Amino acid sequence: MTKLKITETSLRDGHQSLIATRLTTDEILPVLSEMDKAGYYSMEVWGGATFDTCLRYLNEDPWERLRKIRAYIKNTKLQMLSRGQNILGYKNYPDDIVEKFHKNAIYEGIDIVRVFDALNDIRNLRKTIETVKAEGAHCQCAISYTTSPVHTKDYYLKLIKDFENAGADSICIKDMSGILLPFDAYELIKAIKKVTKLPLELHTHCTGGIGEMTMLTAVEAGIDIVDTAISPLSSGTSQPATESLCLALRGTERDPELNLNSLNDIADYFKDVMKKYEENGTLNVKVLMTDPKALIYQIPGGMLSNLLVQMKSLNALDKYQEVLEEVPRVRKDLGYPPLVTPLSQMVGAQAVFNVVSGKRYNIIPTEIRNYVRGMYGRPAAPISDEIKRLIIGNEEVITVRPADLLEDSYDRLKEEIGCLAQSEQDVLSYALFPQVAKSFFEKRTQNISLGSH
Ligand code: CO
Repeated sequence: MTKLKITETSLRDGHQSLIATRLTTDEILPVLSEMDKAGYYSMEVWGGATFDTCLRYLNEDPWERLRKIRAYIKNTKLQMLSRGQNILGYKNYPDDIVEKFHKNAIYEGIDIVRVFDALNDIRNLRKTIETVKAEGAHCQCAISYTTSPVHTKDYYLKLIKDFENAGADSICIKDMSGILLPFDAYELIKAIKKVTKLPLELHTHCTGGIGEMTMLTAVEAGIDIVDTAISPLSSGTSQPATESLCLALRGTERDPELNLNSLNDIADYFKDVMKKYEENGTLNVKVLMTDPKALIYQIPGGMLSNLLVQMKSLNALDKYQEVLEEVPRVRKDLGYPPLVTPLSQMVGAQAVFNVVSGKRYNIIPTEIRNYVRGMYGRPAAPISDEIKRLIIGNEEVITVRPADLLEDSYDRLKEEIGCLAQSEQDVLSYALFPQVAKSFFEKRTQNISLGSH
C-alpha cells in the first residue's frame, strides 16, 4: 500500500462547518505560503458556501479570493466543491451558466472540481463533468452518502460505474452528515476498490463522534485520499484533525509524510485567528460537542438545530420528539432523499408541518411539490402513487433531466445587470445570487466614486 494523500479542508468545509464560513481573505492570505509547504495532495479552498458568504456577509468578491489564493499556492492542487447543475446555489441553473461558471473557476486556478448531486442523479452532473474535462481539470464525482433500504452496497457500486462511464477522474464518498459507520466504511471501500481503479477519497464529519474511527478503518481498507482539517478548524461538526491523523499513522506504510513543522505553524496561526470567532460568539461551543443523536436519527447536526429554531418560532417545542420521528417517515414517502442541502431543509419543513398542523400533508411547501414533480431529479426509490396524489394531485411528473426545461440565460442576465457588472464573472455571480450580487456591485461602485479602496 502507498502513502495516504491528504486534502486539507480548513479553508472551505472547516470554517463552513464551525464558524458559518466567515474566514475573510485577509485572514487566509498570510498562512498560504506555509500551507503550500505542508505536502498536502490538495487544498479545498472554494465552492460550497464560501461563494455566497463572500458576497452576502463579507463584502468580498469570491472570484478575487480565488485569484489571490492561487497566487500564493504554487505547489499544491486547489480544489472546489460544486453542486453540479445547482453550481454553488440552491436550484437548477441552465447549461450555459453551469458551463461558464466552471470554466471561469478553472481559469482562475481550480485544479480539482468535486461535484455532487443531492439525489445522486447522474443527469444533474453530466454538464459539469463534461465542462471540467474539456477544460483539462480533474473531475471528482462524489456520492452523497446516506442509509436507507434502497441505498445498498449495490446501489453505490452502480453509481460508481455511472460516474466512471461519465468520465470521472476520481471518486469521493461524501458523508456530509457524519453517519458512515467505521465497519460499513471498511466494507464499502473494499467493495468499491473491486469495481474501479479510480482513486477513492473519503469525506466525513466528526458530528456524531465517529469521524476518526471511520477514517482509520478507511485507511485500513485502502482509501487513497482523506479529507482533514488543521486542528483549530477540526472536529465537532468539521473534519478530523490533520496533525492527529498524521501522528496516528507515523511510521506506518500509510504515513502521509506531511511536514509536521509546517502543520504546527499553520495550527498556531489559525489558533490565533479563531480567538476572534470565539470572542464574538461565531464559534458556538455546541458545534464542538459530540452529538450522537446525528447517528440515532440520521439527521445532520445542522438540520437538528434548524428544526429546533423552526419549532420554537411555531411555539411547538413540546412536539420536537414527534418531529424527529416524523422525519424518517417523510423521507420514506419521498423516496429516501439524502438529507443534504437543499433536501434536508425541505424534508425538515414538511415534517414540522405534518406534526404541527395535526394532519399529514395538509400544508405542503412549494419546494416539496416541485420535488415530487421531478424538478430536482429522480429519487433513489419511486414515490408511491398515493403520496404523489396527495401532494400534486393528477399532475404529470417530468421524466426529462430538469435542466432540459431551462433556457440559456447568460445573455439575458448580462443585459439585465448592465454596467454594474464589470466582467463575465460578475454576470455569473449575478446569475447565482441576483439580489446579493447586485447590492455587492452597488456598494463597489459607490466605494470607487468615493475614492476609497
Ligand atoms: Co462536508
